[in-house]
Amino acid sequence: MGNGEPLKHQVAGERVIRVRPSRPLSGEVIIGGAKNSVLKLLAATTLSEGSCVIRGVPRISDVHTMLELLEGFGSRTSFANDVVEVVTPETLTPHAPYELVSSMRASFSVLGPLLARCGEAVVAFPGGDDFGTRPIDMHIEALQRMGADIEISHGYVHARAPVLKGASVTLAWPSVGATENIMMAATLAKGETVIENAAREPEIVDLAAFLNRMGAHVLGAGGQTIRVEGVSGLVPVEHTPIPDRVETAVFLAALGAAGGEITLSGAQPSHLRMLCDKLGEMDLRTSTTRNGLWAMSPNRLRSTDMVTLPYPGVATDYQPLLVALLSLADGVGLVTENVFPNRFGYVGELLRMGADIRVEGRCAIVRGRERLSGATVRATDIRAGAALVVAGLGAEGETHVRDTRHILRGFDGLVEKLAALGADVAWAEWSQPTVVS
Ligand code: UD1
Repeated sequence: MGNGEPLKHQVAGERVIRVRPSRPLSGEVIIGGAKNSVLKLLAATTLSEGSCVIRGVPRISDVHTMLELLEGFGSRTSFANDVVEVVTPETLTPHAPYELVSSMRASFSVLGPLLARCGEAVVAFPGGDDFGTRPIDMHIEALQRMGADIEISHGYVHARAPVLKGASVTLAWPSVGATENIMMAATLAKGETVIENAAREPEIVDLAAFLNRMGAHVLGAGGQTIRVEGVSGLVPVEHTPIPDRVETAVFLAALGAAGGEITLSGAQPSHLRMLCDKLGEMDLRTSTTRNGLWAMSPNRLRSTDMVTLPYPGVATDYQPLLVALLSLADGVGLVTENVFPNRFGYVGELLRMGADIRVEGRCAIVRGRERLSGATVRATDIRAGAALVVAGLGAEGETHVRDTRHILRGFDGLVEKLAALGADVAWAEWSQPTVVS
């Protein structure tokens, strides 16, 4: 270069979320259907031949991944507005390829229903992810107790069971995924399956309601013991899933970061008790309305300690949002992660924004700051991505959240909904400056 100055130029743009400090939020936000429910309901459509219709489905890429998986089995799918129709043929090709299972772990929930319906299934063994290794031993052991012959080879789980038999299964931990896989497999098994120490999440109750509507006999979902009496066949149905409690938590956290008063229409307060209690300790007030939740937050919150636990405890999916909020609160908060001890990978991004967080094993010690400072950060997973957007609302200057594909996997219209509440959040074209000498 003539003057010895390096040449700065921009490379092709990337869609990022631009967040600026925001005035107090106000207005109404409508909460959509629960991602973690919808994905399992879609897996369950394989249990019967014919057309299932699911309404209130969020427009997120994880739903498209699940539909792609179902199409690979031979089902026909359509997704218009918020309605998904899945037409399942009489004969399925029960093969879930690695490309899809590795991009979305919930894909593994097809193992149980495929095995029950087809007598065999080949499903890619899910690899590690941002939460750590995430084993599937409980899924496998339970299906083996039900008479399945399971072999793991070349990165795939090969399961075979011409006849699945009801069995008594005690889970070592109330795993959501294992409970769902066993419950779905048991609907078409011979005899009764009893799941002890079952997960009690609202999404389990929703799946049980869907299965029962299809003609299954599932009793006790939402409690520690679930009983499933196998039936000889199921029929396709229509269903509307429960509201998304993690999406609700995102808007409550955004309110905590920006202050203000909002209503969350469609939210289900009975699913959110522990979260609302914790937020209450931080001075964010909530109350039940006819159609959801009302919430008000002062400009500054107080710190508190929290521990993630299976439902009805504080959900691990809320943890990054709560850490972001504690980074902006008065005092010191201790967050203990009991479900996925490695789920602090995103903390490095909050540190880039000036947060004061020390991670020690499964604990994060979060010292609140007066203000964070806007920075370019990367969404490391779905929930962490939303937490960075929340942090940006309480940061000086601009925050750019990159790798937004993670956010699009799990949240439908997050940016648009926040903007409608008055948050200064928008999609932006972000170009990486590169230096050419
Ligand atoms: C689901 C949710 C996820 C949520 C999590 C916990 C979906 C798509 N995902 O994930 O958003 O964070 O529940 O509420 O619904 N475990 C084993 N062996 C197993 C299965 C699980 O050791 O066979 C362990 C896991 O490593 C983890 C704990 O059990 O420590 C809980 O995992 P699990 O409840 O199964 O979570 P997911 O179903 O994967």
